[in-house]
Amino acid sequence: MDLGVNIDHVANVRQARGTRYPEPVQAALVAEQGGADSITVHLREDRRHINERDVRLLAETIQTRLNLEMALTEEMLDFALALRPADCCLVPERREELTTEGGLDVRAHEKVLQPAIARLTEAGIRVSLFVDPDPIQLAAAARVSASVVELHTGRYAEAESREQRAACLAELQEAATAAHSMGLIVHGGHGLHYHNVQPVAAIAEMVELNIGHAIVARAIFTGLECAVAEMKSLMRDARGVAGV
Ligand code: PXP
Repeated sequence: MDLGVNIDHVANVRQARGTRYPEPVQAALVAEQGGADSITVHLREDRRHINERDVRLLAETIQTRLNLEMALTEEMLDFALALRPADCCLVPERREELTTEGGLDVRAHEKVLQPAIARLTEAGIRVSLFVDPDPIQLAAAARVSASVVELHTGRYAEAESREQRAACLAELQEAATAAHSMGLIVHGGHGLHYHNVQPVAAIAEMVELNIGHAIVARAIFTGLECAVAEMKSLMRDARGVAGV
């Protein structure tokens, strides 16, 4: 199972003071040293953390795969088509939100998604859609020919009781099975941390997790390389197989 490390929060610290540090490229290279299989960044419309320069430098320097998260706008589409990251994850975006709050409504936007996904795919970019674990959205993702669905794990992460968490986990498992049977590659992410990652990592159809906030937060105390390695090790243990 792969770990994509989201380094947006490194850029958040830089933007808080308008300094030149901490440098997201440095974070990406250290994350790779710790075992990251891909580097994820969200280029938001308001450029609140990651900016174009960061994405361009990352594309030139990282050893693994670049996963560019973005909203589907003409500006972002042009940027992605010019840069050609390995992966592009389409997410919904609202200016007022603290972080991506819900999955993409693929069903409602099939007409705009289909041609955009075709253009990105033709350019050699693997397209992922960030969706809630909802069978209607998964079927729509398959119809618009996405390669990957990233299941939104936020509801599971925010569950307030054991029962609620178990129900959310079952929902994720069912969605992963359904998506896999539709020929979609299944990823997951949002709100995952050191204490809740293992049940999600144990879902067999899930082949990649994208994790940001918890890893960057842990890095304050342990350093980033160690924080990534620790997360990777938890994921590996959850799969119950050496070297997954
Ligand atoms: N996946 C997607 C699509 C996201 O938008 C985010 C948040 O930027 C993440 C994963 C990572 O979430 P977190 O920072 O809560 O680990």
